Amino acid sequence: MTTALVILAAGKGTRMNSDIPKVLHPIAQTPMIVHAMRAGSVLNPERTVIVTGHGSEAVAKVALTEDDAAQIAVQQEQLGTAHAVAQARTALEGFSGDVVVLYGDTPFLQPNTLERMIAARAQNDLVVLGFEAADPARYGRLVMNGETLERIVEFKDATEAERAITLCNSGLLACDAETLFSLIDAVGNDNASGEYYLPDVVEIARDRGLSVTAVACDEAQTLGVNSRTDLAAADRVFQQRARADLLELGVTLMAPDTVYLSADTVIGRDTVIEPNVVFGPGVTVESGTTIRAFSHLEGCHVSRGAVVGPYARLRPGTELAENTKIGNFVEIKNAEIAEGAKVNHLSYIGDASVGAASNIGAGTITCNYDGVMKHRTTIGENVFVGSNTMLVAPVRLGDGAMTATGTVVTRDVEPDALAVARSRQDNKPGYARKLFDMLKAKKARRDKGA
Ligand code: UD1
Ligand code: CA
Repeated sequence: MTTALVILAAGKGTRMNSDIPKVLHPIAQTPMIVHAMRAGSVLNPERTVIVTGHGSEAVAKVALTEDDAAQIAVQQEQLGTAHAVAQARTALEGFSGDVVVLYGDTPFLQPNTLERMIAARAQNDLVVLGFEAADPARYGRLVMNGETLERIVEFKDATEAERAITLCNSGLLACDAETLFSLIDAVGNDNASGEYYLPDVVEIARDRGLSVTAVACDEAQTLGVNSRTDLAAADRVFQQRARADLLELGVTLMAPDTVYLSADTVIGRDTVIEPNVVFGPGVTVESGTTIRAFSHLEGCHVSRGAVVGPYARLRPGTELAENTKIGNFVEIKNAEIAEGAKVNHLSYIGDASVGAASNIGAGTITCNYDGVMKHRTTIGENVFVGSNTMLVAPVRLGDGAMTATGTVVTRDVEPDALAVARSRQDNKPGYARKLFDMLKAKKARRDKGA
């Protein structure tokens, strides 16, 4: 059976209390809409239609970055979920097969749930995904009669007895395209919100004698995000799952609850992650590395055998080769650190390359920014950069070069040369004693006078 996905993402998300469209709020650093698209992609949809409205352009941009074949259907006015699906009609012209409707704010579906829905669809005209809610709160309630789903009642419109039902509507449904649009044409807006409710297609389908059923999944998959509290809860669910997956894959997490992961974080087995590490988007850590406590990584690649942290910051464009060492209070940005090189203490290495087996001394700074433009620092192999060296970019240090401690390097250094740029030390015998005496006398006079 061919399927098309329709993802509803036009709502404002009033309860988010935000200027950002709801579906662009991130879970594990990835916009909710992208989670929904990835979840739906297991159905191998022939078409994907995203219904946008609030912040349409921004939502479209994110959706098209994820899947450039997606179609955008704009819902000018948000008149309800049924009205939203109706906007996909043009994009689905000429399509025959099943439409699966997903909500952009329900990002945690598992592949086998969608597969179970498709399987149930083979036996029924319309299939709705439901879940047993621990706290049904404001979710729509599924009114069942045996295996048959008779109707869905929104919380606002429900009677006390209906509110007691714990089987809730996830929002997801599957139906043949032609049937679905014909049902939607019959949906009215005579309800507490004055909206065209998609769940109303159930009752209309039943009135037409169609078979309707519900498939249930566990609640974690259908978490709908309507508020910041929901967003935080969804993130928590994501984190728990992602940590469990990593442990399963053979990654050691010393304190799993304190490690924050992104949806695209990749970590190889036998890597050890110490407590309180944050993985921003775009991080790949190979097998057999150690990421020590309180490190923050984003947009970087860490190769086998590397040791990072504690308290290291790897920013986008950081490429660490095998057996590199990045120590405490070191920040690396847009830089390649070649095999076996070390940057162990208190340094900033940005827009740079560091050759194999080089050692960058404590407090070294690549001065990459002149206030207007960024410049590169190129450090060769087996270089020894003395502590507190300032590398004023653009600048190059040849292979085997050395810089003296405290040097400000403004010109290239040829291979095997030592660069020294600091004033010569002068020791004045007895001066320290004289100075101390003078200062102590001054303090005594002041204490007496006061
Ligand atoms: C909806 C369901 C409810 C279900 C819950 C699950 C309806 C009427 N109610 O309620 O039964 O339990 O989801 O999370 O469908 N949207 C549009 N255009 C609109 C209105 C909404 O695109 O005109 C989109 C929203 O962006 C959102 C989704 O549809 O992604 C759901 O809308 P929302 O307003 O959040 O519905 P709920 O009140 O949560
Ligand atoms: Ca919702």
